[in-house]
Amino acid sequence: GEAKHPRKAGFSFEGPFGTFDQGQLQRGYKVYREVCAACHGMDMLSFRTLGERSGPFWDPHAPNAAENRFVKALAAEIEVADIDTETGEPIRRPATPADRFPNPYPNATAAAAANGGAVPPDLSVMAKARHDGANYIYSLLSGYVAPPAGLQIRPGQYYNPYMAGDLTPFWTGDPEKVPYGGFIAMPNPLRPDQVTYDDGTAQTVDQYAKDVAAFIAWASEPKATERKQAGLGVMIFLALFAGLTYASYRRIWKGVA
Ligand code: HEM
Repeated sequence: GEAKHPRKAGFSFEGPFGTFDQGQLQRGYKVYREVCAACHGMDMLSFRTLGERSGPFWDPHAPNAAENRFVKALAAEIEVADIDTETGEPIRRPATPADRFPNPYPNATAAAAANGGAVPPDLSVMAKARHDGANYIYSLLSGYVAPPAGLQIRPGQYYNPYMAGDLTPFWTGDPEKVPYGGFIAMPNPLRPDQVTYDDGTAQTVDQYAKDVAAFIAWASEPKATERKQAGLGVMIFLALFAGLTYASYRRIWKGVA
């Protein structure tokens, strides 16, 4: 058996000139925060990064990302673990822009115990960790379907056609027709109308999956837009320089046999 190839979400940020859609990143952050963050950390991402250029809460009027009022407010809603500098005791306090996204579990043992033995992976670089990452995350999340008749589901496992795996040992049907996909320890996390969008965007599983996949893709490479713009600048420079070189070549060799 093999996994189904991801469906294409048609993301705005794909291709050499693609850029992130800020509204989509804001919705994606909301889905991550209200749904995924119950199980998944993103411990390479700091709150401040949300307010950097091309990030979801970039504000051109903010003096810098750490002083961005949206970022400060969003961070303050989240509690993080710390050590009291005076007593040395562990405490919990509201996050600041400098803090990283916390993991919902104190350690991997607790994470596995809460999820039937599987540890929810950190999502900071998930879009790079999987082939065609953003489309994969989109497809996986919007791709849960009832398991095909003849598939023996293992306890604590769910069927998903986009998950990697080999279902041959669990398949009682025609051995030539082993279903696509694999088992995943994550139950379908998304339902219609689960997250409220205040920009009028459709509150469907398909839309949530797209938006959170875009957010995770941005988080995997927050500087993607700047990198592409720098690349474009280099291409324009090279094109002009090539033209100039050719013009002076023509001029220098003019009339020379
Ligand atoms: C695995 C994303 C919500 C528990 C994963 C994977 C991704 C993902 C991309 C990796 C799949 C792979 O290995 O290729 C998300 C997103 C969520 C979300 C974007 C929110 C929309 C949740 C929730 C839970 C959860 C709410 C807990 C109830 C897990 C577990 C795994 C996992 C246990 C490991 C599965 C395995 O290895 O079999 N998730 N997840 N996830 N997720 Fe989630």
